[in-house]
Amino acid sequence: MSAAMVSALVQPDEAERRAVSVLQAGGLAAMPTETVYGLFGDATRPETVARIFDAKGRPRFNPLIAHVADEAMARAHGVFDERASRLAEAFWPGPLTLVMERQPRSQICDLAAAGLATVALRLPGAGFVRGVIGKLGRPVAGPSANPSGRVSPTTAEAVMSDIGDRIDLIINGGPCSVGLESTVIGCAPEGAFLLRPGGLPKPEIERVLGEALQSAQLVNDARPQSPGMLSRHYATHAPIRLDVRSVEPGEALLAFGRTLPPGSDQASMVLNLSTEGDLTEAAAQLYVHLRTLDAAAPKAIAVAPIPQEGLGEAITDRLRRAAVPPGPEAL
Ligand code: TXA
Ligand code: MG
Repeated sequence: MSAAMVSALVQPDEAERRAVSVLQAGGLAAMPTETVYGLFGDATRPETVARIFDAKGRPRFNPLIAHVADEAMARAHGVFDERASRLAEAFWPGPLTLVMERQPRSQICDLAAAGLATVALRLPGAGFVRGVIGKLGRPVAGPSANPSGRVSPTTAEAVMSDIGDRIDLIINGGPCSVGLESTVIGCAPEGAFLLRPGGLPKPEIERVLGEALQSAQLVNDARPQSPGMLSRHYATHAPIRLDVRSVEPGEALLAFGRTLPPGSDQASMVLNLSTEGDLTEAAAQLYVHLRTLDAAAPKAIAVAPIPQEGLGEAITDRLRRAAVPPGPEAL
């Protein structure tokens, strides 16, 4: 089987109708969100959710985000405390996922939540996917549409080449505007925890909460507090070298800003995240450039220093995890 690719831009109504009918039938549809392309299926159907895990090769202890059409749908599945309510009000729809206690009456299946008492809820900024979920009338589980542990897709073509043979439909909505996954915040009585930095910068969240986010501890890779914290993730095939001050011959360079490190003229390929030094542009380009450099099979991908403000934190988080060498515990 190979997924049909349908454009979300040419005939939006027809694309929506097809996506809804795939989901109603328990099938899998990849759709663009403002962050990355997601692999979506009805979160209330265990056999559908099992197919998502299989299509990604994802370990079943790693729970999925339930995407909703509006805040009312979110409140039917999660118990919002004051922090969650404030964050939803300020940032939804948008690149923010909130983890909270699951409502006892929630129909989200245990497999999607990996058996946890909590649920991760996201109201995406992308209108197309919200419309599809609204028509379905139930939350949809949606991990990034890539094989587990690899670079997330920000174009429909990347989804097609990664997992197109394992899913029913791909909606082509062009490149994603944010380009990094949502920021995941855990809301607990003790405070708000940063479970995964992402497309919504941490300082903006702290400003709304009026308090610092707590950092989550990685207990170990087999049982992380949030599996987005797995040490090796977002990996390329080529090894990655970070914070490079000098490029070695045969390396491909992922540059940032106008000044290139010494040795750049010997690089096998050079791509710039943002010549203007703009971190928003860099986030949107990160996965596309990593995929392009990786496809050229360089000796290594050398990454220039990235400033640590705003989205720089999430960009560096992804690059650090991508740079962890494969080991026996790699997932
Ligand atoms: O931007 C995004 O968030 C994209 C788009 C498609 O919405 N989705 C995405 O999903 O990145 P995924 O499955 O690749 O990442 C979900 C993250 C994982 O790190 C997972 O461990 C965490 O959310 N997560 C989900 N449920 C959780 C829970 N109950 N407690 C803690 N972490 C949870
Ligand atoms: Mg992912």
